[in-house]
Amino acid sequence: MIDLKTQYAGLQLKSPIIVGSSGLTRNPNKSKELEDAGAGAIVLKSLFEEQIEIQIDQVSKSSDYYPEAEDYLRSYMKQNQLQEYLDLIKRTKEVCTVPVIASINCYKSDAWIEFASEIEKAGADALELNLFFVSTDIVHNGAVVRDLYIDVVKKVRKVVTIPFTVKISQNVGNVTALVNALKANGADGFVLFNRYFQPDINLKKMELIPGSIFSRPEELYETLRWTAIVSGKLPNVSLAASRGIHGWEGVAKCILMGANAVQMCSAIYQSGTRIISESLEGLSKWMEEQNFQNLGQFRGLLNSAKFPNPTIYERHQFMKYYSNRE
Ligand SMILES: Cc1cc2nc3c(=O)[nH]c(=O)nc-3n(C[C@H](O)[C@H](O)[C@H](O)COP(=O)(O)O)c2cc1C
Repeated sequence: MIDLKTQYAGLQLKSPIIVGSSGLTRNPNKSKELEDAGAGAIVLKSLFEEQIEIQIDQVSKSSDYYPEAEDYLRSYMKQNQLQEYLDLIKRTKEVCTVPVIASINCYKSDAWIEFASEIEKAGADALELNLFFVSTDIVHNGAVVRDLYIDVVKKVRKVVTIPFTVKISQNVGNVTALVNALKANGADGFVLFNRYFQPDINLKKMELIPGSIFSRPEELYETLRWTAIVSGKLPNVSLAASRGIHGWEGVAKCILMGANAVQMCSAIYQSGTRIISESLEGLSKWMEEQNFQNLGQFRGLLNSAKFPNPTIYERHQFMKYYSNRE
């Protein structure tokens, strides 16, 4: 009997596939369908800090402007956005039995931190922070990003008791050191990685356009690399691998590299909820063939701890595969 249960960031999951934060989880009935397909947890779409701010600005510009009303308007808009989000948490909790993880996408101010405790009170089982700050400043060094992230994590830890995880980008410099520092300051788990807006150009119109909104399976390689490195160096850190997981093979590979769970998003948009059940079936079949009864038997089997110096390992592979290519 194959057991697909796993623990992630203090949550007990019936399966390792978590639905990534997106419009997929905007509707509680859809979230229930995702749960029925086998999802182990649901991450709700993010509450964006600037989404709230922009809406407030639009209202104050478009209506007849009464300065004395602005404060009220601002607080009303903010409250309304938040209330909608809190209702989404409550309604999703009413229909789903798997853990429901709320999500906040933030990058600068800490005004949203007050919301974190409301999210907990609304019944969310955990909170995922999508820390989305990219420094392009010519004098900032990596420490600026690290310090900002630590500051946010410390403040959130003070206001919530539910588990909270941090979703980061691979462009944060030394991923391992950042994860280590954020864990030391209270984060319970990490999502490696989020996926930024991909810029592209329409050459006919000479215009900036968005690149593909969905990931490609090839994007899994970077996810595998860093999952293996972080899990090998920080064995007590709870990890959800994310980005480029499009089927059971990706799930199996991420767990072999040391992930406790994985997040799927693009694959569900592209193939429907059935990709979850198919991936779980494929994973179970592969585990049977390999004589594994549970995920713990192969989690981290191929992580960086198995290669004493992964840099040398990667360097040798690079030399081997690329040096003789004509
Ligand atoms: C349409 C769409 C909407 C998304 N919305 C959010 C969001 O609100 N918050 C968030 O943290 N990530 C969001 N993401 C990113 C996904 O959660 C995920 O991190 C990313 O797509 C990489 O995983 P994948 O390769 O499985 O798609 C969104 C992705 C897509 C495709």
